[in-house]
Amino acid sequence: MVQKKEIVILTGDRPTGSLHLGHYVGSLLNRIQLQEKYKQFIIIADAQALTDNWEHPEKIRKNVLEVALDYLAVGIDPDKSTIFIQSMIPQIAELTVFYLNLVTVSRLKRNPTVKTEIQQRGFGEVVPAGFLVYPVSQAADITVVKGNLVPIGEDQLPMIEQTNEIVRAFNRIYPGDVLVEAEALIPKVPRLPGIDGKAKMSKTLNNAIFLNDSIDILADKVMSMYTDPGHIRVEDPGKVEGNVVFTYFDVFDPDEKEVAWLKEHYRRGGLGDVTLKQRLIEVLNTFLEPIRERRKQLAKDPAYVMKLLSEGTEKTQVVAEQTMQEVRKAMSLDYYNGRERR
Ligand code: TRP
Repeated sequence: MVQKKEIVILTGDRPTGSLHLGHYVGSLLNRIQLQEKYKQFIIIADAQALTDNWEHPEKIRKNVLEVALDYLAVGIDPDKSTIFIQSMIPQIAELTVFYLNLVTVSRLKRNPTVKTEIQQRGFGEVVPAGFLVYPVSQAADITVVKGNLVPIGEDQLPMIEQTNEIVRAFNRIYPGDVLVEAEALIPKVPRLPGIDGKAKMSKTLNNAIFLNDSIDILADKVMSMYTDPGHIRVEDPGKVEGNVVFTYFDVFDPDEKEVAWLKEHYRRGGLGDVTLKQRLIEVLNTFLEPIRERRKQLAKDPAYVMKLLSEGTEKTQVVAEQTMQEVRKAMSLDYYNGRERR
């Protein structure tokens, strides 16, 4: 029988803030399901976060814990997924240095994700080198554990492309086919819009509902949600398409029949935005309450959460060192004949 290649998942986030509903729909839900079937590594990419936050290390430090709390609260299970901290894996830094020889500056400048981010951050011509090369370091994140399936948002596709270019160059130049190419796994569900109706929910755009928003904050945010600007009086017919409240019902309300009925009523006229929003507040609270509760419990014991992260990091180190021994050998850098480095 042909042996099937083992699927290894590597995915993760920059710890720049708490995670929101967009993350839940776009990636967390996927991970909760994937951990049941596959070997899954989840990276908290603190070093990458520093590439545009180098002046605020304490912010990144704080958010490593916040992101870990979010993971655990939504049901990422540390017995099934290996959660680790990027900067604690020195092998990633080492691999990045070797990969940098296989990439050109012009190729990095053409990476669409980097290009957009350079604009967003207003770097102009003065792009920090660390920021420009972070896709190379992301290639190291993935390949150091030989990840071959990477669940990510669509905006991250250029990262996988760049990773695979590096993998192919490495395997062409150095013997042994050490590295494996990765495949992106893009969520089937459409991206969750922000409360302002913009296509993307994001912390920077200030249009996000966070997993740890309190009941009051959630209510305020839903009440300010973008609906149909043409729906002025209750009796006016309203538009459902592009109406954020309905998009959220479609994702979070398990009662499809009721949602279909609400849509019909709204189109016909006579259903007010406030009534509709009150219902959405209830629906979202039902969804978020168990997550809030678990998060609150876990937040009482940060030492426990950090212990889980250190265990995950240790497990990852073993795998990463194994890969690096193969990498060093292929590159004729195995000076002490396989003896482990510290
Ligand atoms: N760049 C990703 C983001 O901004 C985070 C990340 C870092 C990542 N390393 C990764 C994602 C490796 C997938 C695989 O969200």
